Amino acid sequence: DDPASIWVVVNKKRPLSPKDYAPADLVTPNVATKGAQQLRAEAARATEEMFAAAKADGINLRVDSAYRSYNRQVSVYNSEVSAYGQATADTQSARPGHSEHQTGLVADFGAASGKCSIADCFGTMLEGKWIAANAYKYGFIMRYTPTKQSVTGYRYEPWHFRYVGKELASEMHKQNIETLEEFFGLPAAPNYN
Ligand code: DAL
Ligand code: ZN
Repeated sequence: DDPASIWVVVNKKRPLSPKDYAPADLVTPNVATKGAQQLRAEAARATEEMFAAAKADGINLRVDSAYRSYNRQVSVYNSEVSAYGQATADTQSARPGHSEHQTGLVADFGAASGKCSIADCFGTMLEGKWIAANAYKYGFIMRYTPTKQSVTGYRYEPWHFRYVGKELASEMHKQNIETLEEFFGLPAAPNYN
């Protein structure tokens, strides 16, 4: 539960502590981004390494949303509630203090073309398939996989990747364990307490 640990688990039952935590080492990754985006230094370097490997395979990626402060998440969550109602919003947007984006260890990745940005169809594109297959090699895991909403609390998000470091990402891949909750033996977090 150390918010600065690359293994911190944040979900509906595990808010960041303190709730307004902000990372100390945010940097701008040297890759294509949608608007200004920041990540913690280690996650930024991993993103650069991954994008270079993707490019060598003919796949051009972009960072569409990365670090979000507590206050930024207030606006994101409130607009989701206005658009879809609270029940639906809670399946796809974290309440402030509960978003992994606040750790600086998450990026929503997209195609450089902007097609299917933060949309289900990203998962069917070559870009989405490449990243699903290769992210672990660079220390990222797809955090909200298609069949684990009952564990993670969120519907499938083929764009949302969490940096956990190469050691853990490779071990989860090897053991075929998709979620941090299952890997660490933590309670499922389908909803808020
Ligand atoms: N979309 C993810 C769940 C977030 O808001 O952090
Ligand atoms: Zn996300």
